[in-house]
Amino acid sequence: MTKALNIAPAGGKLGVLLVGLGAVSTTTVAGVMAVRRGLAKPIGALTQMGTIRLGKRTEGRTPAIKDFVPLASLDDLVFGGWDIFEDDCYEAAKTAGVIETPLLDEIKDELSAVKPMPAVFDRQYVKRLDGPNVKKGRNKKDLAEQLIADIRKFKADNQLDRMVLIWCGSTEVFMKEAPVHQSLAAFEKGLEENDPSIPSSMIYAYAAIHEGLPYANAAPNLSADVPALVELAQKTGAPIAGKDLKTGQTLVKTIIAPGLKARLLGVEGWYSTNILGNRDGEVLDDPDSFRTKEESKKSVLDYILQPNLYPDLYNELHHVVRINYYKPRGDAKEGWDNIDLFGWLGYKMQLKVNFLCRDSILAAPIVLDVALFLDLAKRAGMSGIQEWLSFYFKSPQHAPELYPEHDLFIQLMKLKNTLRYMQGEELITHLGREYYD
Ligand SMILES: NC(=O)c1ccc[n+]([C@@H]2O[C@H](COP(=O)([O-])OP(=O)(O)OC[C@H]3O[C@@H](n4cnc5c(N)ncnc54)[C@H](O)[C@@H]3O)[C@@H](O)[C@H]2O)c1
Repeated sequence: MTKALNIAPAGGKLGVLLVGLGAVSTTTVAGVMAVRRGLAKPIGALTQMGTIRLGKRTEGRTPAIKDFVPLASLDDLVFGGWDIFEDDCYEAAKTAGVIETPLLDEIKDELSAVKPMPAVFDRQYVKRLDGPNVKKGRNKKDLAEQLIADIRKFKADNQLDRMVLIWCGSTEVFMKEAPVHQSLAAFEKGLEENDPSIPSSMIYAYAAIHEGLPYANAAPNLSADVPALVELAQKTGAPIAGKDLKTGQTLVKTIIAPGLKARLLGVEGWYSTNILGNRDGEVLDDPDSFRTKEESKKSVLDYILQPNLYPDLYNELHHVVRINYYKPRGDAKEGWDNIDLFGWLGYKMQLKVNFLCRDSILAAPIVLDVALFLDLAKRAGMSGIQEWLSFYFKSPQHAPELYPEHDLFIQLMKLKNTLRYMQGEELITHLGREYYD
């Protein structure tokens, strides 16, 4: 056995600050409130329902994850956030239309007490959106300082022990790394000079990481995934993770693709299309925001199928991803996948997947897990990029010299092994020779 990490206890209250009180955030907040009152179950959350095997299969040790590592209890979570609209969390949840009104009404008092602070927002980065609840500032530095003041005040007002911050705001326009992102010094100068390569999400990320708060990005825009903010995270001890929650069609893709590759079945085409009618769908109808999402959704197959290692099977893969905004569906997204595959002697086959899912119902348990695991990482002294949380993201943030791991099953093994490592338990390799020797 290795030595366990020294993990500070999860006592006191944990503030969970969410940027954007839209469908994902309100479904998370309302969901946690409903679960705390015993009105529903936290289905889909590893931190609440998952187990972890320890030691040999013959030992019969499989505790719940929440009993194995010291996680903050749901009762100790305090929610807050920012939005460009003034609606409180109850009203925003009704607008989002994910959770039905009778359940929202049971938690109305608690939910409507979560009111958005004025946001840092610039339409340049999200073209299909505008709202009144927005901060004014001399420059981006000033806006970052206002966010830092919000964070400190929220902590003091709610007598919090610790906090985490998660970007659940709209997808920003596509951006590539620019010189201003290359170092902390360049970034801080850029904040003062209003550099256009610093979008709103980066200002929030900067504020959070500056305060040493764990930061995650639920959307595909760059946000903290730039060298300057990774450098800041190392300096302040902030764990960070992202980008783009792995829900819906991409979740299914990263379940099916590793299976096809495991059996060395070839894939010549993968056509994915979606309809959704929520506000996220409306924002993604803008080609610049969609491009950010498209890059995030398309990369998974390249990494899972490894055409460089299996050119006969995957070199010709034609991968297409479409999202169409279609209002009647609201949050109840429908995705279709057509997979053209081939087997022995090149004989062709087809696989069709039709997933009638609920986007935010799949996203909420991830937001909860990421918040609790990042808080755990912080207490365990693990700072910077938390690659073990790749399990939750479409475009996992990773060290520059590595390729990202997209295979859901490898990601899960990595996550659980990280928990074992934290507690000084033997890592599980699945070798199992000892049962036969
Ligand atoms: N399953 C999912 O729903 C899912 C999966 C992966 C990623 N995402 C991403 O998560 C994000 C949130 O999704 P959603 O369905 O909740 O969208 P949404 O449109 O319902 O909510 C986003 C909210 O963010 C607010 N906002 C935008 N910019 C802001 C800013 N600068 N400051 C404060 N608030 C801001 C908007 O006003 C809105 O209320 C999107 O980027 C989406 O692409 C969602």
